[in-house]
Amino acid sequence: MLIRQRSASEPLSSELTPESVYQQRRHFLKAAGLFGSAAFFSPLLQAAAVAGTQAAPGQGRALLPLPFAPAAERAGVPGFLRQKILARGRAANTTGEVITPFDTVSGYNNFYEFGLEKTDPAENAGSLRTEPWSLRVEGLCEKPGLYTLEDILKPHALEDRIYRFRCVEAWSMVVPWMGFSLGALLRRFGPSGKARYVEFTTLHAPDQMPGQRSNSLPWPYVEGLRMDEALHPLALMTVGVYGRSLPPQNGAPLRLILPWKYGFKSVKSIVRIRFTDTQPATTWARLAPAEYGFYANVNPAVDHPRWTQSRERRLPGTLFNPNWRDTLPFNGYAREVAGLYRGMDLNRHF
Ligand code: MTE
Repeated sequence: MLIRQRSASEPLSSELTPESVYQQRRHFLKAAGLFGSAAFFSPLLQAAAVAGTQAAPGQGRALLPLPFAPAAERAGVPGFLRQKILARGRAANTTGEVITPFDTVSGYNNFYEFGLEKTDPAENAGSLRTEPWSLRVEGLCEKPGLYTLEDILKPHALEDRIYRFRCVEAWSMVVPWMGFSLGALLRRFGPSGKARYVEFTTLHAPDQMPGQRSNSLPWPYVEGLRMDEALHPLALMTVGVYGRSLPPQNGAPLRLILPWKYGFKSVKSIVRIRFTDTQPATTWARLAPAEYGFYANVNPAVDHPRWTQSRERRLPGTLFNPNWRDTLPFNGYAREVAGLYRGMDLNRHF
């Protein structure tokens, strides 16, 4: 059995996290007076406004003691998901790292469909109906169609992966996500050779998602990846956290986790996957292209126009100890992913 040693790309327990104040994109949006107005979507106004090592995927199949206490499973989780969770191969993690507490992971969220404050998703996302759930697969592939969540999960063993998670707002956490390889899922649909990108779309259901009743963002939330990024072994199709199914505020029942990218790429509550030959128009890049690029790789050398990206606050912090630390290129996963971007100007393709 393989027991991993801590590698340079893994976080140390001493690096873990508190926080309080943060720089929020909505401050810019509010300050610009654009929330709720048609002008919000005007490209001209946008332009004027701002001018591990793989966390052991597949390794350590034995049921080792977890480095975190599994959170209590929520009621009403479908039987097939519960069974998958119980049968999962737990990735060994022998680093002894402190992991961001469950209450922070599930209580300090960005999920604008449920409000703009960090506590809104936990308060409001109970209205999200995650069962039944289906995923529409479209575009340049051999097996388009409507798949149930059970169909999606069936052939995949779940595993825990402890990843750093870095938000573009300069806070970060260390989170024990649970899921399976995104690439393994995508390959099942037989993407054609012409598929250069893959687009992911969140549920659009204003009756369940109060935030979608305002035009704070152009709904539904859309994200995208280049195919080679999507097929990278670190890319995780995520169905759980802390040894249980995803709480709704974390993007139940199906979301991406892309640990080398800013958190906004990790789209939640996915209902559609589309293979395409053109770069998808993604939500934040459409909204404020000078601030949020398509790639959104964590990069301490390229600042956000309104704050530095060279440092980050590990959550949870305190007023007296905001837990600042240096941000690492590709969030500490450079060894694994830098090759995807060889020859690209990362100042331009931010
Ligand atoms: N996905 C959707 N559909 N809507 C969102 O508002 N926010 C993104 C990302 N995925 C968001 C989303 C941002 S900005 C971040 S930092 C992460 O979700 C936050 O994930 P978490 O709340 O599970 O920590």
